[in-house]
Amino acid sequence: MELRRVDDAAALAMAAAGLVVDAVQARPDAVLLAATGETPMGCYAELARRAFDSSRVRVAQLDEYTGVTEVDPRSLYGWMRRSLCDPLGIDEDRIIRLRPDADEASACRAYEVAVAAAGGIDLAILGLGPNGHLGFNEPPTDVDAPTREVALTASSIESNGRYFAEAVPERARTAGMNLILAARRVVLLVSGSRKADILRRVLQAEPTPWLPASWLHQHPDAIVLADAAALGDATHS
Ligand code: F6R
Repeated sequence: MELRRVDDAAALAMAAAGLVVDAVQARPDAVLLAATGETPMGCYAELARRAFDSSRVRVAQLDEYTGVTEVDPRSLYGWMRRSLCDPLGIDEDRIIRLRPDADEASACRAYEVAVAAAGGIDLAILGLGPNGHLGFNEPPTDVDAPTREVALTASSIESNGRYFAEAVPERARTAGMNLILAARRVVLLVSGSRKADILRRVLQAEPTPWLPASWLHQHPDAIVLADAAALGDATHS
C-alpha cells in the first residue's frame, strides 16, 4: 500500500483524476469501479473538465441499496450516472450495474459474470467508510468475500443519511472484497479531518476482517491518496 499525501481536497481531486486519465490512456476501454459518496465527487468533476478520450471507458457500479431503483433520489446508480457517467458520455451499454431489484443471488451473480466478461477491473476508485468499509463491505468482511447483499451497520446508515432526506435503507449490495482486491490498481481517496482516526487505524493495521480497508495492505498496487486533514495535520481542516 502506497501512501500519497496531498494538501487538500482540491489537490486530491486533481491527483485522483490524473490516475484515472493514466488508466484510460494505458487502456482506452478501461473498466473503472466507481464509488459514490462525497469524496470522489471532486475527482469526477475534474474528469469532466479534462480533455481525454472517454469514448470507450467502461464503469462498474460499486454498490447499491437493496430495493432502491434509479428513480429514487437515494439510488447510488443514479448518483454515479449524474456525477461520472453522464458528464463523460458513458452510456448504459458501458455500465455494469449491480441491480437492486432482482433477487440477491441472480443480481450478484450477473454482476460478477459481467465484470469477469469485461476482463476485470482496471482501476477501483474507492472512498473510506467511517468504520473502515470499502463499498459496503462492512466489518467483519473476509478477504475473499464475494459480491453479496449485506446488512448495513449503524455507522454506515448514519454516515450516508446525511445525503438524503429519506431514510437510508438498511440493506445494500456491494462488489465483493474479492473483486476489489483483484482490481489491477486501487486508489483509496481520503479527505477531511473526520477521516483522520479511521485512516490512521487503516494505515497501521495488520489486515483484519474487522477493518475491511486494511485488506488493501495485501494488494500489489493500492494507492492511498489522502489530504493533510485526513492525515491528521492539525494545520489543515
Ligand atoms: C459509496 C461507497 C462508500 C463510500 C464511503 C465514504 O459508493 O461505497 O463506501 O465510499 O462510505 O463515503 P464519503 O466519501 O461520503 O465519506
